[in-house]
Amino acid sequence: MEVNPLSEYLVSGVKLTKHFESRRSPIEFLTGRRPPPIRAVDGVNIEIQRGEILALVGESGSGKTTLGRLLLLLEKPTSGEVWFDGQRIDNVGSRTLRAYRRRMQMIYQDPYGSLNPKLRVSEIVSEPLRVNGIEVKKDRLAEYLAVSGLRPPEKFLDRYPHELSGGQRQRVAIARAMILEPEFVVADEPVSMLDVSLRSEILGVIKRFNQMLKTSFLLITHDLAVAAQVSSRIMVMYLGRVVEEGDTLGVLRRPKHPYTQTLLSVVPRLGGSLPKTLPKGEIPSAKNIPSGCRFHTRCAYALPVCSTDEPELRLVDGSHVSCHFAEQILSGSTKQSTS
Ligand SMILES: Nc1ncnc2c1ncn2[C@@H]1O[C@H](COP(=O)(O)OP(=O)(O)OP(=O)(O)O)[C@@H](O)[C@H]1O
Ligand code: SF4
Ligand SMILES: [Mg+2]
Repeated sequence: MEVNPLSEYLVSGVKLTKHFESRRSPIEFLTGRRPPPIRAVDGVNIEIQRGEILALVGESGSGKTTLGRLLLLLEKPTSGEVWFDGQRIDNVGSRTLRAYRRRMQMIYQDPYGSLNPKLRVSEIVSEPLRVNGIEVKKDRLAEYLAVSGLRPPEKFLDRYPHELSGGQRQRVAIARAMILEPEFVVADEPVSMLDVSLRSEILGVIKRFNQMLKTSFLLITHDLAVAAQVSSRIMVMYLGRVVEEGDTLGVLRRPKHPYTQTLLSVVPRLGGSLPKTLPKGEIPSAKNIPSGCRFHTRCAYALPVCSTDEPELRLVDGSHVSCHFAEQILSGSTKQSTS
């Protein structure tokens, strides 16, 4: 097993790539051509520090969920590496991987689909303990339910999921994910199916566990307000690549990549979700990624070089940005095209 004892990060992905096979179209079927792969994640470097909440934002189809699943090795990378606590884990055997899995968890978007309807709350939350041969103590269950905001916990232990509201179910799902005290959790749109009035409270639960257990979170969200409320760092993805990464407030106050700027401009104010489409049409297909800068088909600043040369992520005014003209755009010396 490859070991890097000096790693300051809890989790990292190196040049992570996931290409899915796509189904053949009728023409491809007739001509025997192989369809192009779906390039869901395409060479992403990501690092998550111990105890931090990193927000991952981007439009639908940009590869956020796939990246989260790759880091948990729920999805096998096409290429690239996954490191956890100083050890490379994408190439280890299933037994070793099982031991790592215990230290990582996922919280899903749908509080209705993610709980077994036949089990009581006490059974749902204690299941990870039982599976791992750990004694189930009622006090511990009660403590985790209480921290999740189900108070008094005794009132909830014997209930079934159908007796709970959406918010209460998500609190149970969070208690279940946290009961093994994981070091790393991927929370995939954990509040997007909940009433807006509840979102802040549920995010508060995530923040509480983050502080109590020093758990690192990758928080996937469409909602920039969600990112602003709990994350210290933000990563913006576009078509399988990271286009901007930096301190959350810095990125949201002064976005440097034209894509991040567009995302922010279509949200009336912090507090809104991203719309399905941005002003310049839909996100291109991950089967047919534009050449050069993959944002050039929708970018108001695009120049000819943008369609031929792919920009690398580089440090611009405190954030990492992949745009050939980030400095000029920031200083206002490059104008937007009006087409
Ligand atoms: N199992 C799969 N098989 C084939 N294609 C997939 C699979 N999972 C994801 N994709 C494709 O990979 C791309 C990225 O998908 P992903 O779900 O990671 O995006 P996302 O950013 O999480 O989107 P959303 O915000 O809608 O959840 C999309 O084009 C999607 O259709
Ligand atoms: S590299 Fe060109 S197309 Fe890409 S974001 Fe920058 S200006 Fe726009
Ligand atoms: Mg997703």
